[in-house]
Parts: sequence; C-alpha cells; structure tokens
Amino acid sequence: MIASNRIVLSSDHAAIQLRQAIATHIAERGWVAVDIGPTAPESTHYPKHGEAAARLVASGDCRFGIILCGTGQGIMMAANKVKGIRCGVCADTFSARMIREHNDANMLSIGVRVVGEGLAFDIVDAFLTARFEGGRHATRVEMIEALEG
Ligand code: RB5
Repeated sequence: MIASNRIVLSSDHAAIQLRQAIATHIAERGWVAVDIGPTAPESTHYPKHGEAAARLVASGDCRFGIILCGTGQGIMMAANKVKGIRCGVCADTFSARMIREHNDANMLSIGVRVVGEGLAFDIVDAFLTARFEGGRHATRVEMIEALEG
C-alpha cells in the first residue's frame, strides 16, 4: 500500500536551503513533506542521502522522492541503484512532466547549481501534477524493471 501523499526529500550539503524551500512549497500544496535532511552544513556524501530517500520510496512508505545535490546527477545515480526506483534529473518542466507521463518516474532529482528556486518549484509542480499514461509506456517501464534482475 503506497502512502499517496507522502514525499521524501533529501539532499547533500550543497542543496539544503533549496530542499527546505521545496519541502515548504509542496506542503503548501497539500503533500506531506518527509524531509530526512541533512540539516548540518558540513560536507557530506550524496550517495547515502540518495539511497536513504530511495529506500523510503521503494518500500512504499513514500509515494515520491525529491532529491538534490549540486548537479542533481550524483544523487540520482545513487537513487537509481535501489531496486524499484526510476529517478530522472530535470532542469526543465517538460522533462519533469515527461518522466512521469512516459517513464513512471517515482523520484525527481534537481541540481541546485543548475536551476534557481523559481524554476525548481515549477519543475516540482510539473512532476507532481503529471500522470503516467500507461499503455505502450507500461511495456517499456516493465522492460526497465526486468533489467533489475
Ligand atoms: C558536491 O560538491 C557535489 O559534487 C555534489 O553536490 C553533486 O553535484 C554531485 O553529483
């Protein structure tokens, strides 16, 4: 049973401020923001934060995950190593919509050194309001899942 309104947020040290702003942004739109940190500004390792968020999505505790690092790339790579996770990095709203509609992405990654706060909010909104189209896209998502072994 997937908790339909819970979204886990995580980041490395580079993106703490934007992550917290996004948590507030989604909470104002009715989502439950499960912000698992970190909060300390010291340098930390993005793979463990990507993994922690991914595990909450993969387990069904959270419906979606939003993760951030400097580029969005490293933390996305870590999250995608967790079985059941489909995470894309987005720096535009079209991609954010399409990874839901065509790829049934369950996690979104954003680079704080790539996009500003306003665009990040729009990217998040595009991701959260889009719906998976199923059909031929479901076949392709099943092919991705088959690669997980
Ligand atoms: C940290 O300096 C940086 O490497 C990290 O935030 C991220 O961009 C890695 O992909």
